[in-house]
Amino acid sequence: MTSINQILQGDCAEVLKSLPGEAVDLVVTDPPYLVNYRERTGRLVRNDNGNAEFLGAFSDLYRVLKPNSFCVCFYGWNRVDQFFSAWRQAGFRPVGHIVWQKDYSSRSAFLQYRHEQAYLLVKGNPGRPAKPLADVQPWEYSGNRAHPTEKAVSILRPLIQAFSKPGDIVLDPFSGSGSTAVAAVLSGRRYIGIELEAQYCRHARTRLAGVERYAARKAA
Ligand SMILES: C[S@@+](CC[C@H](N)C(=O)[O-])C[C@H]1O[C@@H](n2cnc3c(N)ncnc32)[C@H](O)[C@@H]1O
Repeated sequence: MTSINQILQGDCAEVLKSLPGEAVDLVVTDPPYLVNYRERTGRLVRNDNGNAEFLGAFSDLYRVLKPNSFCVCFYGWNRVDQFFSAWRQAGFRPVGHIVWQKDYSSRSAFLQYRHEQAYLLVKGNPGRPAKPLADVQPWEYSGNRAHPTEKAVSILRPLIQAFSKPGDIVLDPFSGSGSTAVAAVLSGRRYIGIELEAQYCRHARTRLAGVERYAARKAA
């Protein structure tokens, strides 16, 4: 598969159609939360404006995943109905929910909003891990230097290590600055990233080239 260890630019709903079925070992992804997010500096996230059309891509994500494997998907807590219906329609089954606890508030309104969240979804019936990951995890702020909603590599690595094996292919169809792909390389996995915005694809490719050189030096 020529897309292995590549960041592919395009709409994942289209790009996923070019991938063969049952080819990917794990999906870890952080789609737009559908909340019209605007950072203080004015940066926006594409397709975060309430149009949930991109959720249709989960059917192809299900198709490209191998049987008996996992998909970890971050989501916007106040849009859970839309995410859940897309996951169920695609065929995914929820088997867990992970919360990252922040030591600061992202926002304050009816509550101080101090967590991020993701569902652990399965295709089929994967085996249970010998030592299950705790479903409350410590959060680390990435600094959002390259992307307005960048996830820290340190919060993604435990997911990749828990739900895939060395050499496996990890797919992130909403890859942004490439954090999932970086976490995959640092965990000895292969990756496929898909991202709509050219600027983030360029950044991710440069970032990954550095990380791949580092991983190769370490392995030598
Ligand atoms: C929440 S951000 C992901 C950030 C990423 N986790 C990181 O650490 O940088 C969601 C990303 O999905 C991208 N996106 C939105 N719609 C898309 C689509 N249809 N296909 C591919 N990428 C898309 C956005 O441009 C954005 O970079």
